[in-house]
Amino acid sequence: MIDIHQHLIYGVDDGAPDLQASLDMARLSADEGVTHIVCTPHANDEHSYNVPLIEQRFAELKERLQGLVELSLGCDFHLTADNVHDAVTNPLRFSIGGKGYLLIEFPWQVIPRSMNDAISRLQAAGYTLIVTHPERYPAVLRQPHLLGEWMRNGCLVQVTSGSLYGRFGKAQEAFANELLERNWVHFLATDAHHPIWRPPHLKSGYEYVAKRRGEETAIRLCETNPRAAVKGAPWPEQPEAEGLLENVPLQFADRAATQRSKSGRSGRGNADEGSDGGTKTGFWSRLFGK
Ligand SMILES: [Fe+2]
Repeated sequence: MIDIHQHLIYGVDDGAPDLQASLDMARLSADEGVTHIVCTPHANDEHSYNVPLIEQRFAELKERLQGLVELSLGCDFHLTADNVHDAVTNPLRFSIGGKGYLLIEFPWQVIPRSMNDAISRLQAAGYTLIVTHPERYPAVLRQPHLLGEWMRNGCLVQVTSGSLYGRFGKAQEAFANELLERNWVHFLATDAHHPIWRPPHLKSGYEYVAKRRGEETAIRLCETNPRAAVKGAPWPEQPEAEGLLENVPLQFADRAATQRSKSGRSGRGNADEGSDGGTKTGFWSRLFGK
């Protein structure tokens, strides 16, 4: 498996606080079958992207972890005006391995319309954008149609592994599961920050997806698509994202309420589908020309 979102580099943001924590996170990942980690320090108002320090510690970890896991450098890129300007004037600087795939993070509480302009500018500069954990933003939970807009504009979607099985709350769980069932998820990643309080458990997510949507889907979300992002390869063929072009509203809020009213039942539904939905030529093909 390849984890494209981890705050593995110590002392550069709110992720690993020290070298030992970085090494422990890498060891936990490797023990679960992760062979490659993308280190994604924050670039936001709270944590600036200190390139010399990040590159120095990335090189140190790469050397220390040789033979255990491979590392790439990326960024948890907050869509501030300064960041967007920086990314557009330094092409591909913040993307994974400098190869074009960029993890983007939105404001948590209020998402202004100007974000669409930021998305367009980054895409015009050559980035392929990956929306990080849409299921965890209060603003997207209130306005889920935003995610459909971003996807129709060509953004890919990364869901946090733990969201699928309720680590971030019921609404987030219901949202993540609906995205999974509709084939609106392209990557599972841990967004791990610490070996103990935000540990990197990708295997649990892999097994969850394999059980509900089939092994083929789990491989696609944890290996095939992440590999394309790490290599900067053309975007692989995906199953059709159900209801995306037709703008069918997401139903997760109703589902979360139903779950709450059924004590002791998960109410996730569709558990017996067990299929990837088939790999049809569709929206993603048309968008990426493949
Ligand atoms: Fe993150």
